[in-house]
Amino acid sequence: MPVKILVGTQWGDEGKGKITDILAAQVEMVVRYQGGNNAGHTVEVGDKTFKLHLIPSGVLYSDVICVIGNGVVIDPEILLQEIDTLSQKGITVSPKSFKISSIAHIILPHHKHLDSQQEFTRKTKKIGTTGRGIGPAYTDKIARKGIRVQDLFSKERISNLIKLQNWTKLLSHIPLNEKDIVEKYYQYGQQLKPYVVDSSLFINNAIDDNKMILMEGAQGTMLDVDHGTYPYVTSSNPIAGASCIGAGIGPHKIDQVIGVTKAYATRVGEGPFPTELTDDSGEYLREKGAEFGTTTGRPRRCGWLDLVVIRYAVRVNGITETCLTKLDVLDELDTIYVCNSYQHENGDVIKDFPLDPEVFSNCKPIYENISGWKSDISQITDYDALPTQAKDYIKYIEELTKVPISMVSVGSKRKQVIHLLKVD
Ligand code: GDP
Ligand code: IMO
Ligand code: MG
Repeated sequence: MPVKILVGTQWGDEGKGKITDILAAQVEMVVRYQGGNNAGHTVEVGDKTFKLHLIPSGVLYSDVICVIGNGVVIDPEILLQEIDTLSQKGITVSPKSFKISSIAHIILPHHKHLDSQQEFTRKTKKIGTTGRGIGPAYTDKIARKGIRVQDLFSKERISNLIKLQNWTKLLSHIPLNEKDIVEKYYQYGQQLKPYVVDSSLFINNAIDDNKMILMEGAQGTMLDVDHGTYPYVTSSNPIAGASCIGAGIGPHKIDQVIGVTKAYATRVGEGPFPTELTDDSGEYLREKGAEFGTTTGRPRRCGWLDLVVIRYAVRVNGITETCLTKLDVLDELDTIYVCNSYQHENGDVIKDFPLDPEVFSNCKPIYENISGWKSDISQITDYDALPTQAKDYIKYIEELTKVPISMVSVGSKRKQVIHLLKVD
């Protein structure tokens, strides 16, 4: 079957953009199925760096069709800017190669305003959102008062939906200026119209034609609104199952779920993070791994690899293979620590991710240590050429997650990758 799904197994920023770009060489279509421009997916090719927020990371191949599925929330202004930025860098985003779902929901100016207002009113309980209006846009979708892409083609429809927004807002809400929004968003609609399709029909036709399709998840499993570290999560479902809803395909069309796992852990924003390092080691990983947000530039919190989290991600996504990224960041370390279980403050040893946030927040990592390889692996492209200790680290992760590692990334460039056909 022709559909593969790629998901982040941690708190986002695992290197999904880079891996999608590599896998895109073998597929005919790349689809985003959730999230919005809270995502920041970096792809480095030659001397060019692309930071993609909405357009799938297959866009650098002229023969790959990129699709924004119905499950994504779209800020039209940002999307049009992204199309422009890409064209300035020599990448043509034409209606032939880029499609947008007619029923994806739209982020409006008040969603962004509400995002920052809500953060402000949460006082000490802030989520640390990206401030892009993602939560409020999904809230309106679920509350059945959102505006969808196809609505932008009619001034009357926009106007009616803005009226509905104004009627249904809380009293403190500043009314939306109907006239301004109708004019502005109608114009956005006209600019986006050539790209707009029934994306479920389009994707399913491609499946019927036996075309290979890659679903590119944004964010990560631990940011999933159902399965993540609620409430410190995003407002969509990044996990693999959500791609059926966010792209409009049946589950039986999927045969592979690829988990992207960073060789250590990072998190941006608030929320519990048992393996977080607040000392020099954390600072070291941040500097060496250039761990600063692609979307907001915020420093990412860094810590050791947490296999309790990865095993949970394997389970809730049904991961069939792992791409391990940023292994080169660990090159200079004498010892690498890996968390394989937690100790709760009541003394219990916990091996499975606990769903109660109070329990999770009180978990201390129990570490096992592995010797570092103390050499530069960033130019290695052959598994056999890796130092023994690096191979041991790979095998250790495979063993404890019971999932084979199919690819190891050792640098940010497209070529810095090791394909593991067979790991002995
Ligand atoms: P995404 O959101 O999952 O696509 O990840 P981001 O792009 O936000 O963050 C990953 C960062 O690590 C980017 O700057 C990538 O260029 C970089 N990167 C990806 N893979 C590797 C790798 O194997 N080694 C190193 N050193 N950097 C990598
Ligand atoms: P990619 O696709 C890392 C985090 C935010 C915040 C929480 C909620 O690049 O991996 P939101 O704006 O979504 O309401 O914020 O989710 N977050 C991400 N963290 N990578 C991302 O995307 C993220 N998208 C959202 O920092 O903690
Ligand atoms: Mg990112």
